[in-house]
Amino acid sequence: MWESDGGLLARVDKTKMPRHVAIIMDGNGRWANCRGLLRSAGHTAGVKTLKKILKTAVNLKLEALTVYAFSTENWKRPHSEVDFLMHLFSDYLEREKLEMHQNNVRIKFLGRTEDFSPALQKLMHESAELMKNNTGVKFNVAADYGGQDEIIRAAQKLARRVQSGEILPEEISEKIFDDELDTFGQPPVDLLIRTSGELRISNFLLWQAAYAEFWFTDTPWPEFTPEEFIDALIDFGKRSRRFGALNN
Ligand code: FPP
Repeated sequence: MWESDGGLLARVDKTKMPRHVAIIMDGNGRWANCRGLLRSAGHTAGVKTLKKILKTAVNLKLEALTVYAFSTENWKRPHSEVDFLMHLFSDYLEREKLEMHQNNVRIKFLGRTEDFSPALQKLMHESAELMKNNTGVKFNVAADYGGQDEIIRAAQKLARRVQSGEILPEEISEKIFDDELDTFGQPPVDLLIRTSGELRISNFLLWQAAYAEFWFTDTPWPEFTPEEFIDALIDFGKRSRRFGALNN
């Protein structure tokens, strides 16, 4: 089991925790460049950060954690970088899946899978199957994921259901739409964290983040720590969320 840093976790008021935290793990490349390293070294360091944050999420008993590992636009990067990210992703799953399973994590992949290599697709499938009955943190890895693409895929599934006569167009509700998304059955995003100073959503969880609180930091992802993750959770606990209504 992953050990917990009790002192650190005690800073969080459990009654004010978000249910679902999403993270745009940005800044690996710039972090590496600033140190005269290759961008790949930044991504390798990024995986180490991810392991620490997942462990913190497990110890905090967070309900859902979603990370943006590879966007539908990331295929436009140089072939060598895409290749490196694919290897990193598969090494990560190979090395970590058992430990995640032992920690009751339920991994799920958001996005398309068909453009990944058959070996990677198999590993993703095996990892998800291994953990599918786990009841701990829902750990969503968005890979070949785009929010607009996800919404279009959901619309296509609904169009087919209408075409087959299963439902009427006017029966399509937010709930029915939500159930066709990759995150079906999971709570909406409460808190969206983005590292490395960029202030944008970059096609991430466009539907699910409709009422998310945003938390931005200049810290590049390789330097992001469990302490700063907890700062974000504490700050979330102080926000006044009205969901378009009034407070009283
Ligand atoms: C953003 O940094 C990061 C990515 C595009 C990939 C994120 C990947 C990891 C943290 C590691 C791999 C993930 C898994 C699940 C194994 P950037 O390259 O856009 O950095 P920059 O904006 O400084 O160039």
